[in-house]
Amino acid sequence: MKVICDGDPGHDDMLAFLLAAKHLELIGITTVMGNQSLEKVTKNALKIVEFAGLTSIPVAKGMPRPLVNEPLYAPEIHGETGLDGHALPEPTTPLADMHAVDFIISRVMENDDVTLVPTGPLTNIAAALIKEPRIAEKISCISLMGGSLTYGNSTPAAEFNIYVDPEAAAVVFRSGIPIKTFGLNVTRQAEATEAEVERIRRIGTPVATIVADLLDFYRTSLMRVFGLKGASLHDPCAVAVLIDPSIFVMQPMHVEIELKGEFTRGMTVCDYRHRRLTSDNLQGKDAVIRGKKPNAEVAVAIDKERFFDLLIDTLASYR
Ligand code: RIB
Ligand code: CA
Repeated sequence: MKVICDGDPGHDDMLAFLLAAKHLELIGITTVMGNQSLEKVTKNALKIVEFAGLTSIPVAKGMPRPLVNEPLYAPEIHGETGLDGHALPEPTTPLADMHAVDFIISRVMENDDVTLVPTGPLTNIAAALIKEPRIAEKISCISLMGGSLTYGNSTPAAEFNIYVDPEAAAVVFRSGIPIKTFGLNVTRQAEATEAEVERIRRIGTPVATIVADLLDFYRTSLMRVFGLKGASLHDPCAVAVLIDPSIFVMQPMHVEIELKGEFTRGMTVCDYRHRRLTSDNLQGKDAVIRGKKPNAEVAVAIDKERFFDLLIDTLASYR
């Protein structure tokens, strides 16, 4: 399975990359503004491929701002660098010689089995779909971290990746491409408490030690800001399902992105009513009451123990 990871590293994006590189054919990493500025998250992506020994994987730099919104970063969670917690050397690996949007378009058009794994705002994916609509017919699947069946984090209703660029998310969810989506209702359960971080640290390798240091910073941030007990490992969920689908329970639903709500802009409005429809394009009251056909598989449960076994076994396979 050829995969492109598109993210805003970002402590949990890092884990998505490390999982994908060991279990899937990771043909590229593309970066997008989100947790920090495009410059910072791109530097972090290069730091990650360097410390993990993955410099053969091309890194392409993407969109510096959302389609409509002003950028919104998350230094309170990921720190000033976007990957605080362990000082990593300035990267020397060169970037791919094309924009992330062109990288995504070229790799999808050249292959028939590319899966996209966006773990940041969906700006790069939307821009690629707008620039080259034909990729919608060729992308096998989009497995993304974003949204929520329940509560938000950036606002009471909206999760960060969607909230930063709701218009981009609407382009993706209306694309007709098969989508697997992992929201806070599940990803908050993938929580690395002190016990899980110590399991990682006990691996004792250079990579595991760096990851444990970074997760300790990330865990402390989430405990301070949200009163959580540990680090929510949101992004690796979107990769883990591609490695072992049985770790999750997925439910088909129609998902719309709220673009107008005063209190709900950026909310993933998930139709959990299990309605099965004969028509794709119901309009008006019919569409509200009877619901529309599912356009995504939405994660509703996770086997936390098997998720962490996969993650920790994978980390132990690095140097
Ligand atoms: O809301 C959590 C998401 O926002 C994660 O992908 C995290 O890395 C940030 O991008
Ligand atoms: Ca992310």
